[in-house]
Amino acid sequence: MKISEAKRRIETLRREIERHDDLYYKQNSPQISDFEYDLLIHELETIEKRFPELITPDSPTRKVGSDVLKEFVQYRHDYPMLSLANTYTQDELFEFDNRVRKSAGTDVKYVCELKLDGASVSIRYENGRFIRALSRGDGEVGDDVSANILTINSIPKSISNPDLPQSFTIRGEVIFHKEDFRKLNETRVNSGEVPFANPRNAASGTLKTLDSKIVAQRPLDCYFYYMLGEKLPGDSHSGNMKRAASWGFRVSDTIKQCNNIAEVLQFIEIWETRRSEIDFEIDGVVVKADSIELQKRLGYTSKTPRWAVAFKYKAEQERTRLISVSFQVGRTGAVTPVANLAPVLLAGTTVRRASLHNADQMKLLDLHMHDYVYIEKGGEIIPKVVGVDIAHRSADALPLDFPVKCPECGYRLTRIEGEANWYCPNDLECPPQLKGRIEHFISRKAMNIEGIGEETVDLLFGRNLVRDVSDLYGLSAETLSTLEGLGEKSAANITRSIRNSVNVPFHRVLFSLGIRHVGEATARSLASHFKSINAIMNASVDDLIHVPDIGLKIATSIREFFDNDRNLAIIEKLRSFGLSFNPEPGSAENSDKLAGLSIVITGTFSRHSRDEYKEMIINNGGRSLSSVTSGTSFILAGESPGPSKIETARKLGIPVYSETDFLEMIA
Ligand code: IVH
Repeated sequence: MKISEAKRRIETLRREIERHDDLYYKQNSPQISDFEYDLLIHELETIEKRFPELITPDSPTRKVGSDVLKEFVQYRHDYPMLSLANTYTQDELFEFDNRVRKSAGTDVKYVCELKLDGASVSIRYENGRFIRALSRGDGEVGDDVSANILTINSIPKSISNPDLPQSFTIRGEVIFHKEDFRKLNETRVNSGEVPFANPRNAASGTLKTLDSKIVAQRPLDCYFYYMLGEKLPGDSHSGNMKRAASWGFRVSDTIKQCNNIAEVLQFIEIWETRRSEIDFEIDGVVVKADSIELQKRLGYTSKTPRWAVAFKYKAEQERTRLISVSFQVGRTGAVTPVANLAPVLLAGTTVRRASLHNADQMKLLDLHMHDYVYIEKGGEIIPKVVGVDIAHRSADALPLDFPVKCPECGYRLTRIEGEANWYCPNDLECPPQLKGRIEHFISRKAMNIEGIGEETVDLLFGRNLVRDVSDLYGLSAETLSTLEGLGEKSAANITRSIRNSVNVPFHRVLFSLGIRHVGEATARSLASHFKSINAIMNASVDDLIHVPDIGLKIATSIREFFDNDRNLAIIEKLRSFGLSFNPEPGSAENSDKLAGLSIVITGTFSRHSRDEYKEMIINNGGRSLSSVTSGTSFILAGESPGPSKIETARKLGIPVYSETDFLEMIA
């Protein structure tokens, strides 16, 4: 390679890496996998090694990417927040081990930890008090995200312990547990918001949310993995982590001391196969020299510590053939492209379909008919197409375009300014929109009508028995029992469930209506602010934006919904069937009997579902949280409660109540 050629390639690589840094750190929407990103860095490093005269201090090989946002107050880190060198092969690990042992002059003890895939945070404590939490930022300066971090229940706000140094900094990874992430995305989809691509994006997006009230509603968690300070309690990393755990910090119990690199490799292998058992996402293993003295001796490069490396697991990826692309129309009219694939085994399941997200993503992939595509399973619910194998595209392959008309009803699609989705505006007739609204209405978190699945909705719709949700209340058991696959017993159960649904509280009825962008939480705020459907119907956009958490987009959507005569007619019909359109006076809703209490639910219950108990806690002013900490007020335990929750509660002296105790408490 000539120097002129090297210069050109370096410029291209730097530009490309900077573009991906921006997508990853600032926009939370990476377009390439970590592996592909590391390939770019590796190529740049190789060229820079051959032509050191072309290295500049601002090269991405010399500095860490930046996630600093303008709106937060920024502070300088007390210790720079660096990245980790990535390795992908055993050989690279052996090289690391050789370097470390050479410097130590003896055998070395390592600590292996899972590499959590979230957003990093650095928290400073002085005299046992939480001072400030900073995001990584550019490694030198970070955003003050204290308000958001303080919403995480498991993070100690003050600590008193004889071992505690006068001051210290502790670093950890902010994450979403898989189940919490699934629920968060479900709520986002239900309220017409774009779901997060994976738990990592959800965690870093949430950490950088300016409104900490929104953050408080999301169950973030944080695991700690490193402590820094002048006078640390121990002389080993593992010892410091044990102390941190005893002071109340959450430290993963998978952390393991290894006597040599062979034991390290064993740890890596074990967790690669057990990866799916862990309830948060990991993308590898971090290997650290355990002795703090040795860590000091090895020191740092400008970007990474010399005493630690990350062994990255490859994203679970496969290559397969694209058969076709379907364009699905959801209940809000949003059109989503889905790739139909030649079946392929990926991480233990056969995959036939993968998400293409939206028109922008399709364009970016430059998808052609019958392309070979790469699919990846990250934290997301369905796999996604992450790339195309262009080398195997046939010369005459035609590009795949996004349709201009609705594939279901033929209406011309429209796009709302600033949104990635195309919509079918024919909300009054487009069949999947009508059916989707019925499915949403009967779903568990909405009216909770049991016994009707997607197929029954199809049948009811196909036979013209139900066109909108109010028609459900006119269905008789006789009519239902004539439907394919429904006997008299299930028909009777369905009609009973429909009848019972008239008792569903007002805020859930409001959520069930399927107003675009109105999820469970927004429906709850609207109900408690306006008290009746009539008041909401009469509210102007200006009145609506005064409700907490409602912005112009949601307010406009609510106004549009109630300006539509057909929606008003449906509401009148529902009212005539006895549905609740204002909170019943004296109902258990909105009491403050549990005000200020943090309650953890565990086990299975017989008198109400877990979700119903959660709702009762919120309605009575309490907070329902997932993990037991010293701040937990009590545990609501059913049959077979989580043993670790009960054990922690016992240790911390937290009372455990049964469902009967709880129901008496709020009666
Ligand atoms: S130690 C100076 N340990 O990985 C060394 N990092 O790619 C500091 N991470 O910025 C890092 N799990 O956000 C360490 N057990 C673990 C980790 C971990 C996840 C993240 C962390 C760091 C990034 C580097």
